[in-house]
Amino acid sequence: MIRANENYNKLKASYLFSDIAKRVEAFQNNHPDRPVIRLGIGDVTHALPKAVIRGFQTGVDEMARDATFRGYGPEQGYAFLREKIAAHDFQARGAEVSADEIFVSDGAKCDSGNFQELFADDIRIAIPDPVYPVYLDTNVMAGRTGEFKDGRYESVVYMDCLKENGFLPELPEQEVDLIYLCFPNNPTGSTATKAELEKWVEYARENKALILFDAAYESFIRDESLPRSIYEIKGAREVAVEFRSFSKTAGFTGTRCGFTVVPKECMIFSGSGEKISLHAMWNRRQSTKFNGVSYPVQKAAEAVYSKEGQAEVKKLIDAYMENADIVRRTMNTLGFDTVGGENSPYIWVDGQGRDSWDFFDLLLNKASVVCTPGGGFGKCGNPYIRISAFNSLENVTTAMERVKEALR
Ligand code: MLT
Repeated sequence: MIRANENYNKLKASYLFSDIAKRVEAFQNNHPDRPVIRLGIGDVTHALPKAVIRGFQTGVDEMARDATFRGYGPEQGYAFLREKIAAHDFQARGAEVSADEIFVSDGAKCDSGNFQELFADDIRIAIPDPVYPVYLDTNVMAGRTGEFKDGRYESVVYMDCLKENGFLPELPEQEVDLIYLCFPNNPTGSTATKAELEKWVEYARENKALILFDAAYESFIRDESLPRSIYEIKGAREVAVEFRSFSKTAGFTGTRCGFTVVPKECMIFSGSGEKISLHAMWNRRQSTKFNGVSYPVQKAAEAVYSKEGQAEVKKLIDAYMENADIVRRTMNTLGFDTVGGENSPYIWVDGQGRDSWDFFDLLLNKASVVCTPGGGFGKCGNPYIRISAFNSLENVTTAMERVKEALR
């Protein structure tokens, strides 16, 4: 008899963003005359930069001729891309990362979801609340949690991120083995200073723990004093893995490309305490289960690092950040406290006691604007909503006009 992985029964029926998509579709079917503006899922709307398209086209043209055609590529990614990433994203900022420590992939969602399979079933995991649902759900699927009770899974150490602590996770009181951190944060938009990250690196080193650091939104950091990579922190190479993505930075949500950094010094431990290279393990995992990102997509990603690519990507990010500013100011003017939107594309809005799904429904029904209910990111996500800056200036401006009307 073929039996199911019953850990899946512990999950909520559907993934947060699928749930929202269903509600929006139902609304749209019932009100075809009221077009919605989507500020929910963080999906980019502007076209890929021209330099990226040229890189893409070069890759496609090469695939069209026998002489330059490529079949299977290296599972870890082509050297031309890994070298640019290492030089530009890390070495230029004084962070020691070499090209062979970079694993190119089809995105940070897959990597941050897959990475947990390298760890034992009975490790203790610490997860912020609210949090990007992938970290928690993939650990539930793997059987690393107990049942879902009163809005939380048993045997997970939740780190509450509340107004009182500036939406920053605090060091757990009990010992934990695996720590998920995300800065700039999804969903709250909060950021961490170097001193904040130093605290976590020190904790991980002392406790032989590992940090999974999601830096998918680093390119939205405006404040030059803030770290963009955990490897800007001394000692992090031994205790941290970092996820990055071209999705929000360069418009790759539909194109798919990201990467994970696994430093060679990073060690985990066998049951008897022997050191095991995490780099070797991830390499083994990827070469068995992954066949690399397509060549044209890697050529497109490489073009992000060209002079034109950099200028165009900056323009894209500036445009989204202008939207973030509009959202933040509008919500503040309406009397709502917000966090985020200054170094991140997400604005976390305090709903003043409203249930976050009620607030979501109110904005959908009265303003035809889609946001994300904070409760979907965890118990501490109530009473917040997350508004995303990913849309056109025109749509964001219209959405905010409608929100003003609806909440007046
Ligand atoms: C989000 O809206 O949180 C993100 O777009 C989801 C993702 O990147 O997978």
